[in-house]
Amino acid sequence: MNHGPSALENVPLPELSGGALPAEVAEFLADAQRRIGDFRPRRRIAEFQSCDGALIYGTLDAIRQAGLAQGPRFCEWGSGFGVATCCAALLGMQAHGIEIEEELHREARGLAAAHGIEAGLHLGSFKPDGLYEERLPDREPAPLGFAPTDCDLVYAYPWPAEERWVEALFAHYAAPGTLLLTYHGGVTQKLRRRV
Ligand SMILES: C[S@@+](CC[C@H](N)C(=O)[O-])C[C@H]1O[C@@H](n2cnc3c(N)ncnc32)[C@H](O)[C@@H]1O
Repeated sequence: MNHGPSALENVPLPELSGGALPAEVAEFLADAQRRIGDFRPRRRIAEFQSCDGALIYGTLDAIRQAGLAQGPRFCEWGSGFGVATCCAALLGMQAHGIEIEEELHREARGLAAAHGIEAGLHLGSFKPDGLYEERLPDREPAPLGFAPTDCDLVYAYPWPAEERWVEALFAHYAAPGTLLLTYHGGVTQKLRRRV
């Protein structure tokens, strides 16, 4: 690979406003939680764990207000129910999410449609072949019609074992200035920038 994790610099997370959520966001997040709660007993997908919707909304809003992203393009890697992608769309970003599990992708589309949220929810993988062998092609593949790193802000909630691959992929392809926001359970988030 061309770049190691040193290609990423830490960015202090901007302070959250702490204000009440807009009503449409609160309604969306409550419905998302309800649907996720209904889904879990029906279908166990080991890889799926949902983020804290209010936290991700607040963080994306704070990033936007602080003007940290170079532009409005957002991409969620492994979007599950699409909660973060929909939050980004509700904040006016050009939001896309990529999910490999068909049932989750279907649920995400249903949730977004129920709230009239326009977001690109795609079925597929954000990982190109060769990632785990550390043999990535020089040019990022775009199997969904766009390259997963070709945006201004990437968000992912990786399992611990996947963290270094998300970082490596981002470091290899993202343009300088692109932000990587990751969630690690509880209230732990990291914000990095491609240098
Ligand atoms: C821990 S969950 C996080 C879900 C969502 N990002 C969130 O924050 O609520 C990780 C998600 O990544 C998906 N996933 C795993 N590998 C993937 C891949 N190569 N491409 C797309 N999605 C993937 C899983 O199916 C799962 O839904």
